Amino acid sequence: MKIKLAVLPGDGIGPEVVNVALDVTKAICSKFGHELSYEYALVGACAIDKVGNPFPDETYNLCKDSDAVLFGAVGDPKYDNNPSAKVRPEQGLLAMRKKLGLFANIRPITTFQSLVHKSPLKPEIVDGADFICIRELTGGLYFGRPQGRTEDGNTAYDTCVYSREEIERIVDLAFQYAMKRRKKVTIVDKANVLATSRLWREVSQEIAKRYPEVETEYTFVDNVAMQMIQWPKRFDVIVTENMFGDILTDEASVITGSMGMLASASVGLQTSLFEPIHGSYPQAAGKDIANPLATVLSAAMMFEHLGKQKEGTLIREAVNASMAAGVCTEDIATDGAKAYKTSEVGKWLVDYINK
Ligand code: IPM
Ligand code: MN
Repeated sequence: MKIKLAVLPGDGIGPEVVNVALDVTKAICSKFGHELSYEYALVGACAIDKVGNPFPDETYNLCKDSDAVLFGAVGDPKYDNNPSAKVRPEQGLLAMRKKLGLFANIRPITTFQSLVHKSPLKPEIVDGADFICIRELTGGLYFGRPQGRTEDGNTAYDTCVYSREEIERIVDLAFQYAMKRRKKVTIVDKANVLATSRLWREVSQEIAKRYPEVETEYTFVDNVAMQMIQWPKRFDVIVTENMFGDILTDEASVITGSMGMLASASVGLQTSLFEPIHGSYPQAAGKDIANPLATVLSAAMMFEHLGKQKEGTLIREAVNASMAAGVCTEDIATDGAKAYKTSEVGKWLVDYINK
């Protein structure tokens, strides 16, 4: 198969982790006889610095014309405490999601045997947890207008907007995932307070009728936040709006034991994009210490989305083997054991795949 990849490293540790994932992708392609071509493009703070736009048209066009996008992270502290910055790196990510129509962000949450002890939660609670968070990605508070300040600057507002169509397509996707899994969907909302949530619930109830085999539950977001760490094994597929999904998935990373392990796929109307759920971790940038496994596992999701299951499986096997061998970056290294560099983990994975 021919695979054309858009590679968007972004900021902070993005280039280091994407580098490892790209090396792994290359190794997989040569092993399975795929013809890989790839091109780099700018997004985020590095794009603002170079061309004054966090998501330049050239990047958009490259993504559109590719089979998949491999993305690292965006964000730079020089923008974080500067509320007057006119353009922010995160706008590049949001523009990318919107323009590529990436309305669904699929975030699988699982545990890894060798990491169970890394979670601050008791092993009997997390061991065996296995669910998927499906986060709506192009609507809600992130994109609703109006957004801004009153003229005197003393009042600010964001608007949460969802249309029936936006809800239908994401909730239907959640049911499709559930049909391939344990057939349970948790619809997460705040229908006791928010009008958008009441529409979510109404639309979800209609969609649930199309999937009589699936057990559907409707749960408030605050309650899910609690249950997720109290009894994570009860969940199969969770579907929710943009902001709730952002918050819940950071929380869910505690189950796995490190933010550095969680992969995601953003899918929608055009090219799909594969990205770790963590941010740009600027404190670690350039130090070769960041955990590349979230991005490597995102590459596994990429192959699976391209219909290449065996390729994805081999990547997962390599990741598990590296952890079993103790080849781990500092965030997941066993206490007292040697921590490996990002690039060393990458080299180990490539060697594993080659042999
Ligand atoms: C994520 C990130 C982004 C988000 C930020 C960087 C805008 O936290 O992908 O979860 O909030 O969606
Ligand atoms: Mn987030």
